[in-house]
Amino acid sequence: MNDRRTRPIQAEILRTRPMSVTRKMAADFPRLRAMAEQRGLTLHHLGAGYPHPEVSSPERYIAQKEAYFSHLARVRDPESPDRARRELMRELYNYGDTLGPRSTREAFARVYGHDFGFSMDPDRLIPTMGATGGIALVCSLFERYGGPLAYIVDAPTYTGFVSRASLYQKARFYSVPMDEEGPIPGLFRAQVKKAREDGNFVPLYYTVPDGHNPGGISFSQARRLEILDIVREEGLLIAEDAPYTYISYEDEGARPRPFVALDPGHTIHLFTASKIGLPGPRVGFLYTEAGAVVAGDEKVSIKDLLVIESAGDLLFHNPESLLGFEAYLMDDRLEPRESLWPVAATKNAVYGENRRILLEGLQTWLGDYPDRFSWTCPGAGFFTVFTFKGGQVRTDAAFVEKLVATYGVVTIPMFGFYPEDAKERDPLAGLDQLRLSFSYNERTGDGRRQDMLDAVRAFAHAARIESGLPGID
Ligand SMILES: Cc1ncc(COP(=O)(O)O)c(C=O)c1O
Repeated sequence: MNDRRTRPIQAEILRTRPMSVTRKMAADFPRLRAMAEQRGLTLHHLGAGYPHPEVSSPERYIAQKEAYFSHLARVRDPESPDRARRELMRELYNYGDTLGPRSTREAFARVYGHDFGFSMDPDRLIPTMGATGGIALVCSLFERYGGPLAYIVDAPTYTGFVSRASLYQKARFYSVPMDEEGPIPGLFRAQVKKAREDGNFVPLYYTVPDGHNPGGISFSQARRLEILDIVREEGLLIAEDAPYTYISYEDEGARPRPFVALDPGHTIHLFTASKIGLPGPRVGFLYTEAGAVVAGDEKVSIKDLLVIESAGDLLFHNPESLLGFEAYLMDDRLEPRESLWPVAATKNAVYGENRRILLEGLQTWLGDYPDRFSWTCPGAGFFTVFTFKGGQVRTDAAFVEKLVATYGVVTIPMFGFYPEDAKERDPLAGLDQLRLSFSYNERTGDGRRQDMLDAVRAFAHAARIESGLPGID
């Protein structure tokens, strides 16, 4: 990679893709951990948005998969289940279809459609490598256009999307500030207009409406409808990244509906099993009922274009992995589940408890200073966004390092989640905010609860001292 032909490409990639803050934190983590340990500090995890080990057991996942494969073999050939199982395994380790096994798509469409109140067509489901694979697939489709592309995104937005989309050098991002209900409609409309006036093709708005990462909110139902109206009028699509739709803390009747349930014709929905299941098997599905106009008036479905794109890219998704996820859609008797909400409930008992400990801790130790501190109250997902008000504290990389080295508290700074245009509007964008995650720590049960409490206490203590207030005794 060092000859004269590749050097300009490398330089361009480095210029357009500086290392993300999250990756930099991960790279620096061993050094910071050593520094904290040298000072005798316990390390408090409020940084990583990982699934909690207490509610994501690979052993159980694998055991369910094994039991299901044997069950399928018995159903296939009750006389010689061993032979049927060998046959099944041969299929699962052979070349397969780009869309994966139909049975998996049928099982998923039934459960997901039931859980989110819409009719899902299994033939429109495209397997992806998690939501990350879905993002890559969507981007690569629109990059076929060849000209300048603009994506509407939130400010702040998920860096995984920006990283992938900016591999295309003619991609630009037009970001829309958010309030506690979601993107602000007037500014959304203005950004679409501006992106077009600047000569871009504007295919879509990328967002994470439930448990926004990193925004720490879920969009209100009313705001979703307002955004949908604009999207329909402007002829855009919504790329709805949905890792946290099941990780919801709202009562059943109060949960806002995902865009895909409201209007599948204007949505490209990216489901991932990473949070409701496990990230390792890399299971995800893209779903859309959107049509596209190509070559004059001929209408071709976006899904068909995406299947071609997917076939040319990864050819086919791992069938064993997909059937393993199908097993996850079965109950203990290996009968199809009607719903994944009971599975979500066991996870959300843990995440919800962590969330409560965090939010109550912030209220207890910082609630007396509303003019100094605020934080979001997430309806779903793993994150709250914490704001230092009044401009005294600057949450830059040095500050975040200091939180680790001096107080043992790991957090993620928000400034790296703001796209360039947001920083042009406000050079201090995100420099008063931190993303606090409540999804992950190392122990389980009472140990987990205690660790969460210790983490929020240590964070609140640090926030007070760094703001010039007395610490917690
Ligand atoms: C908003 C968002 N999109 C995508 C991902 C990546 O998900 P996956 O593991 O399915 O690739 C994450 C993971 O944290 C996320 O928060």
